[in-house]
Amino acid sequence: MAILPIITLPDPVLRKNSAPVERVDDDLRKLADNMLETMYDAPGVGLAAVQVGIPRRIIVLDTSKDEDNPTPLVLINPEIVTLGPELRLHEEGCLSIPDVQVEIERPSTLTVRYLDRDGKPQEMTAEGLLATAIQHEVDHLDGKLIIDFLSRLKRDMVIRKFKKLAKGETGKAPQAAT
Ligand code: NI
Repeated sequence: MAILPIITLPDPVLRKNSAPVERVDDDLRKLADNMLETMYDAPGVGLAAVQVGIPRRIIVLDTSKDEDNPTPLVLINPEIVTLGPELRLHEEGCLSIPDVQVEIERPSTLTVRYLDRDGKPQEMTAEGLLATAIQHEVDHLDGKLIIDFLSRLKRDMVIRKFKKLAKGETGKAPQAAT
């Protein structure tokens, strides 16, 4: 396994629409395992393939926050099929936008269909932090970021800050906080 470099704002790849996975094979499983290792190392509770520069529809998650009993999840071609009526407010961070938190209200429950790491179709219901994290990661697959929930003024401020950082720190790995 390997820890992959996480790309950050303003890398335009983050705005790409990720392509569906056509075949779940050993190469894809290896990518999923590397994504999990990268996520745990960061550390984070979720990661989309596009964040390691591969715009394909794969996300990994672990919201258990229990290092002794990890519950890694690999969702390939995830599709949210239902969203519950209740909303949940959460201050979200993103490994691709270090040190930025955005309060976002999203449905607190959902049902998602996906292929597991063996390529088998699955359906899962999720609530709380896991439901929030799934929506956050699926947004990544459509090129959507947490800063899109901000006002245009605030969003432009964040983008400007990261453009400046990128200019000043060329070749230096950005520090991921959450
Ligand atoms: Ni993110």
